[in-house]
Amino acid sequence: MTVPVAWHAMRLVFLGPPGAGKGTQAQILVGRFGARQISTGDILRRNVADGTELGKRAKAFMDAGALVPDDVIVAMMEPELGAGAAFILDGFPRTVAQAEALDAMLTRLALPLGAALQFDADREVLIERLAGRWTNPRTGRTYHTLFNPPRVAGIDDEDGGPLVQRPDDARDVVAQRLATYDAKTKPLIDYYARRGLLQRIDGLQPIEAVTADVLRALGDRAA
Ligand code: AP5
Repeated sequence: MTVPVAWHAMRLVFLGPPGAGKGTQAQILVGRFGARQISTGDILRRNVADGTELGKRAKAFMDAGALVPDDVIVAMMEPELGAGAAFILDGFPRTVAQAEALDAMLTRLALPLGAALQFDADREVLIERLAGRWTNPRTGRTYHTLFNPPRVAGIDDEDGGPLVQRPDDARDVVAQRLATYDAKTKPLIDYYARRGLLQRIDGLQPIEAVTADVLRALGDRAA
């Protein structure tokens, strides 16, 4: 499906609960349009793996299914945003304070947002998706044992690297991540609706159908 998408429409915020498909759809758009996926979760996990000061500070919050403090996240994101005109923010902002900081940074850079896409899905589906998710820790590419299996179990189709299960996908941590989402991140739906930027996407559909809806939403905004 080809939809004309203007570059301004490719400065996107992806919102939605854990497992809604933000990372999956971001990777598909990156493959099609060459926009940059900026995933706060992936950046944080790389820092944890490398043992940086940022990673040491973030780890306990991530392991507990809580949010890393806003000041840490905003400082981490500032250099990322200036590096290119088209980007998909996957997992940022996650609080109203982060959204306000993002607005201020993008105003300074004269890079207005094209849209905020909210991926909706039911709690039972989210739990099933996270329980079956396998991730390439080097690239952040994700698979699912049932819904999007790799050609060879445990091996990334793209670079042949090993796939792992994320420690925060354990059932008790997922429950906490969902509660954190409800308390801290859900208010961003109204935040972006009030600014006329919100598009809601039914994340319960198969992956290709979700992509088709995303492209339609972006095409509508670019028109
Ligand atoms: P992060 O890594 O951002 O996790 P998340 O938001 O909880 O999102 P997920 O990556 O779990 O889900 P997703 O929506 O990307 O789903 P995916 O596409 O993989 O954050 C981790 C932690 O870092 C946070 O808990 C927090 O501690 C910290 N953090 C990050 N950002 C922060 C911030 N801004 N502020 C403070 N702290 C922050 O899909 C899931 C699975 O389902 C996959 O297996 C996939 O193959 C499958 N799937 C996807 N779509 C479909 C579909 N349509 N049908 C069937 N299966 C599907």
